[in-house]
Amino acid sequence: MKTRITELLGIRYPVFQAAMSWASSNAPLVIAVSNAGAMGVIAAGPMRPEDFRRALAQIKAGTDRPYGVNIPLNGARAAELLDIAFEARIPVMVASQGGPREQLPRFRAIGTKWLHVVASVEHAQKAAAAGVDALVVDGMEAGGHPPPSEVTTLVLVRRVVKAVKLPVVASGGVADGAGIAALLALGAEAVQLGTRFLATPEASVHDNYKRAVLAADVDGSTLVARGRLPIRQLKNAFSAKFEAAERAGAPQEELDALFEASSLKQAALEGDVEWGRLEAGQSAGLVNEILPAAEVVKRLIEELEEARRRLAAL
Ligand SMILES: Cc1cc2nc3c(=O)[nH]c(=O)nc-3n(C[C@H](O)[C@H](O)[C@H](O)COP(=O)(O)O)c2cc1C
Repeated sequence: MKTRITELLGIRYPVFQAAMSWASSNAPLVIAVSNAGAMGVIAAGPMRPEDFRRALAQIKAGTDRPYGVNIPLNGARAAELLDIAFEARIPVMVASQGGPREQLPRFRAIGTKWLHVVASVEHAQKAAAAGVDALVVDGMEAGGHPPPSEVTTLVLVRRVVKAVKLPVVASGGVADGAGIAALLALGAEAVQLGTRFLATPEASVHDNYKRAVLAADVDGSTLVARGRLPIRQLKNAFSAKFEAAERAGAPQEELDALFEASSLKQAALEGDVEWGRLEAGQSAGLVNEILPAAEVVKRLIEELEEARRRLAAL
C-alpha cells in the first residue's frame, strides 16, 4: 500500500494517529501506533518542556519507526518546544497554526519532513508556497479546531487535492477503514484519525472522557464559538451554557469569559466532562469500544482491505 506519504515518511500504512493535546501528549500512544506501522504523533502544545524532552527520549527508546511531533507555532511555548524538537532531530514535524517559513530551513537541514495542518484552500496554497513537504487537511467534522468556514472533509480534501501538487493527509470524521478508503479515493495519500484513538488505553485522558466518547452518537458534538476560532466538542453543560448565552445575545466579553472559564485540561485530566471542553469529532458516533492502539491500527487496515475488495467487486 504505497502512496507518496508512505514513501516520504517511511511508514507501512497510510494512517496517522492525530495529534491531540493531553490525549497524545505522551510517549506510549505514539510508540504503540508507530510500532504498529502507522504514524504516531505526540501533541507537544500543552507539555512542559522537561516533560516533552523526556517523552521524546522515551519514544526514541521505544520505537525505531518514524514518529511525528505536533507543535502549534503560535503557542506561548512554541520557541522552546521547537528547540527541543530540533535538538532531538525528530523525523517528522506536523506543525499547526502559524506559518512555517521561519522554522522550515533549519529542520529541513537535519532531514525532518515537515507537514503542515491547514483548514482552507488559501492556507494550503500558502503552506505549499512556503515549501512544506505535505499537508494535513482538516474538515469540519474534526474534533479540536475544525475550519471556521465549516467546510466538510469530503469537500475540502477534494478541493485541496486539486489545487496543490503536494501529497495530502485527510483529517476529520474518520473512525474506520471504510472512511480511510473513501478519503484515499478522493486523492488523499494518508488519513488521520483523532477521536478513534481517544478510545484507547494509551490515550492519556480521564476515563470519564473515554466513556463520553463511547456514549456519543454522530450528532453528539457541537461547534462552540462559531465565527471565532471554533472548537468541536461533545455536547455538555459548558457547551449548552455557551450556546444559550450566544442565543441571548450576550456581549462578546461575556462570551470570552465563559469560554476562558472552561478548558480541555479540565475535561482531559480532571475528568470534568460536564464543564470542561470535551473536544472530540463527529466520528465519536462511530466509536464503540476501547481497544489497544496497535489493535486499532490492525483493524483499520483489515477494514480498509475489506472496503477495497467491496469496491473492486461492484
Ligand atoms: C482532544 C483533541 C485534542 C486535539 N489537539 C490538537 C492539537 O494539539 N494540535 C492539533 O494540531 N490538532 C489537535 N486536534 C485535532 C486532531 O489533530 C485532528 O485534526 C482531529 O482529531 C481529526 O478529527 P477526528 O477526531 O474526527 O478524527 C485535537 C483533537 C482532539 C479530539
